Amino acid sequence: MTMNDMLKTTPDFSIDAAAALLAEHYCLSGTLSPLASERDQNFKVETTEGTFILKIINAAEPEIESDFQTALLAHLGTHAGDLPVPHIRPTLSGGSLASTTSPHGVQHRIRLVSWVEGRPLAETERSDAALQSLGRMLGRFDAALKGFMHPGALRDLDWDIRHAGRSAARLQHVAAAEDRALIERFLKRFAAIAPRLATLRAAVIHNDANDWNVLVDAADADRISGLIDFGDALHAPVIAEVAIAAAYAGLDHGDPIGAAAAIVSGFHAEYPLQEEEVDLLYDLIAIRLVTSVTISASRRSHAEDNPYLAISERPAWTLLRKLDRMNPRFATAILRKACGFEAAPGARTVAGWIAKNRKTLAPLLERPAATYPAALVPYGDPVHPMTVKSAAEQPDEAQAIWEAHCRENGIELGIGPFGEERTVYAGDMFVSRFIEKTRRTRHLGLDLFMAAGTKLYTPLPATVVSVEIEKDPLGYGCLIALRHEPEDCPPFVSLWGHLAHEALGRLKAGERLEAGALVGEMGAPTENGGWAPHLHLQLSADTNLSATEILGVGEPRYLDVWAELFPDASTFAGIAGEFYERHGRSHEEIVKLRRELLLPNLSISYDKPIKFVRGEGVFLIDDSGRAYLDCFNNVCHIGHAHPVVVEAMAKQAETLNTNTRYLHDNIVAYAERLTATLPKELTVAGFVNSGSEANSLALRLMRAHTGRENAITLDWSYHGTTQELIDISPYKFRRKGGKGPKPHVHVATVPDSYRAPDNWPVEEHGKRFAESVAELIAGMQAKGEGPGFFIAESIPSVAGQVFLPEGYLKEVYRLVREAGGVCIADEVQVGFGRVGSHWWAFETQGVVPDIVTMGKPIGDGHPMAAVVTTREVTDSFNNGMEYFNTFGGNPVSCAVGLAVLDVIESQDLRGNALTIGNYLMDAFRAMQTRYDVIGDVRGLGLFLGIELVTDRRTKAPATEFARAVSNGARRRGVLMGTEGPHDNVLKMRPPMIFSKRDADHLIAVLEETFADVAKTLG
Ligand SMILES: Cc1ncc(COP(=O)(O)O)c(C=O)c1O
Repeated sequence: MTMNDMLKTTPDFSIDAAAALLAEHYCLSGTLSPLASERDQNFKVETTEGTFILKIINAAEPEIESDFQTALLAHLGTHAGDLPVPHIRPTLSGGSLASTTSPHGVQHRIRLVSWVEGRPLAETERSDAALQSLGRMLGRFDAALKGFMHPGALRDLDWDIRHAGRSAARLQHVAAAEDRALIERFLKRFAAIAPRLATLRAAVIHNDANDWNVLVDAADADRISGLIDFGDALHAPVIAEVAIAAAYAGLDHGDPIGAAAAIVSGFHAEYPLQEEEVDLLYDLIAIRLVTSVTISASRRSHAEDNPYLAISERPAWTLLRKLDRMNPRFATAILRKACGFEAAPGARTVAGWIAKNRKTLAPLLERPAATYPAALVPYGDPVHPMTVKSAAEQPDEAQAIWEAHCRENGIELGIGPFGEERTVYAGDMFVSRFIEKTRRTRHLGLDLFMAAGTKLYTPLPATVVSVEIEKDPLGYGCLIALRHEPEDCPPFVSLWGHLAHEALGRLKAGERLEAGALVGEMGAPTENGGWAPHLHLQLSADTNLSATEILGVGEPRYLDVWAELFPDASTFAGIAGEFYERHGRSHEEIVKLRRELLLPNLSISYDKPIKFVRGEGVFLIDDSGRAYLDCFNNVCHIGHAHPVVVEAMAKQAETLNTNTRYLHDNIVAYAERLTATLPKELTVAGFVNSGSEANSLALRLMRAHTGRENAITLDWSYHGTTQELIDISPYKFRRKGGKGPKPHVHVATVPDSYRAPDNWPVEEHGKRFAESVAELIAGMQAKGEGPGFFIAESIPSVAGQVFLPEGYLKEVYRLVREAGGVCIADEVQVGFGRVGSHWWAFETQGVVPDIVTMGKPIGDGHPMAAVVTTREVTDSFNNGMEYFNTFGGNPVSCAVGLAVLDVIESQDLRGNALTIGNYLMDAFRAMQTRYDVIGDVRGLGLFLGIELVTDRRTKAPATEFARAVSNGARRRGVLMGTEGPHDNVLKMRPPMIFSKRDADHLIAVLEETFADVAKTLG
């Protein structure tokens, strides 16, 4: 049918004639006013029974179409009576349609429907809320039509989105070549997705939710009050409903994708969409506009220019041009997010995977990034001189300001965070392509500022995607994209910008990189796009974006979308979350409260105390996110917060914890496992809660067995915090606040081979040092007494990591036992395989103690401890008095103990301790050849000491040097201690999981620190 035919059949009833029809068919009278219509004739009818629309249908309209519309309205009336759409008023004879003949003799069908209140959306502001409400209305409408079908719905309409390809045939009517090219681009995209349309859900839809067909509540502009005009309804893909509404809503809208997002979110809430539907939305919006502008162009060229037809042509062209400038993947990400889907498939999994696997990532910098003293780079402060210089493209000046700041504050790593609002993005390239009159200001990468030339390594295995040079001022300079495909994680891309050009010749697309392999170096301003040297590191969960497509800076409004599409690279780079967010009380406040609330002599490590908030493997993380390599705290035996231990503890804690008077599997299982690690004589265990308690229990056992009090203890030893243990700890009773030895306490010389008299042959050290014990026994015996016990750490630690000379314990144990005493080995520090070669350090001396005490490492941080002894000693102790310990040996502690043993055994951590210990010893010995201050290097497994002296001959202790090294290492992020009577022995007891990489880290820091301290203390 041509347009002319259509006009001949168009009804042109007078108002009076229409009123007569109304009276005849509906028995209604009222005021009639004509309404605009393209094809039919419509009258608004105001009656005492309500307001209606009288529609006189174009005679050319096939009956099937008006039947279809009538059936559709009837269906809505039945199934969605409350939906604010026109509802049919039946004729006097009960029909949905009436019929009449015009004065021209043409037969017309007539329909009366209820009037829907509201102003056209076109005449309002179209707030986000209104558009969301529109989405909801359409969702409800389409949901109500889910089960509806009619032969008339299967129409052939150019407005059917599936036929949008027909626009190609109308392209000739578009005058400007560039406009045709624009359309062709969208047609090409559409051709690629069109086949997918056929696979999507289809149903009868409104198909024309333009803003003249949508009504807004007169009293509330945010609420859609009605939906009218079902003239274009047809059976089509459901998503077309949203696309069409979004296409119209985007006209003359400052943020057309935002408008579409509002609609789709509303629709999705009422009628859940599928991801594959939303993924097509951008192209469907565009293609609806293409249909619209090409139909307009075609009609105009047929000289039938009807202003009604062209009404949306200009804004449609404008919107098409806007859409053309956008990256469709970003638009889709916004629309996906509006529905609560991931911005890109798998995006949330990527961030989650990285967080979960962060401990396994290789360091991106020479050392783990969190170990460098770091500070925020002030790009977030628009008036900061560095920001001002950067924005003015003066990178050298910006860099000088930053370097001075770093020097003054001991900063080694500058961090420019994800999401930061920045003013440095001044160029035209930062104007938003999504939102009018808006700039992109939010940084979507993570910046790491270090010196030009700083080497950068990939945390994960990777395939090189691209290596290129971006030459624009304030561009990326050398830019590398890597693709990562970890198991159990969707693939993702890492983008490395502002690099030195050297990478261009070295890396090729397609090349494989192992974790830890060199990616590139931070570039100088001449190579990095003209910035102060830094790495812009960005992740993209969308692997289809090319390196230059990845959006480095984004609109604040869509930060939540960008954050999903481009997950914050901080964790990937090894930056701790605490860097960005501090929690809890300030250091000063805690120090003050400790002073007020806690025992005043509870000391704090370091002059400038550290507040640790998290432990992870070999690292302790402070409240500023700085990670310290923990080489000191031997309690975290198999690493801080070991997941196996934590899980065992949690599992048992949520099941049962109680005292040992009931039967439980754990306590006997643990006793079996623990005693199995010890010589066959040591068969009976007692469980307690601390090393002190273990030593106290050992003393009770000893007294029960020997009936004696006399103690032989090594000088400068420490065995615990109770009074009776302080009494046998010269480290306490000989120092400040101490009252000297009690009469029953006899102090033997520390068998320190390094400080043995020069005239003692080395092979005699054991025997010679044992003489000190023999003398003490002789003294007791002279008074008619004898020793109750001898106690020693199997490697005296507090005395300065002293390794007992060969044969020492053998001789001492012989002497003590001959004199009727028992031998106690304090393994509270050194036990549980730390020495590597053996489970227990006493084994290195070839002896079997009568009692072994254990603590610190036993629970990897959980407070538990144990005593293991012989049947003989136990029998003496079993004298009728009950032994009870409320917490000792509880099911949770034993579960933890079992987990620790499992990990040591299953991962051969003793073997690791020996290997890494030897590696460290070799390095320390190599340092000894270069630093005279290193008098002695001692160690076995991961129990290590470096004794510092000012003079190797006199062995005068280099106490100040040792303290300076310990503090210098702390400044460099490595924790160690000083020990010994002169505090001149560097003490190291890293976790048993210490790797070669950790060892290299420790060695490098020691090297740097020694070099530094040697310069000042020489
Ligand atoms: C050798 C030795 N024995 C015993 C103890 C006491 O252990 P706890 O502090 O768990 O009571 C310590 C603690 O430092 C120790 O080093």
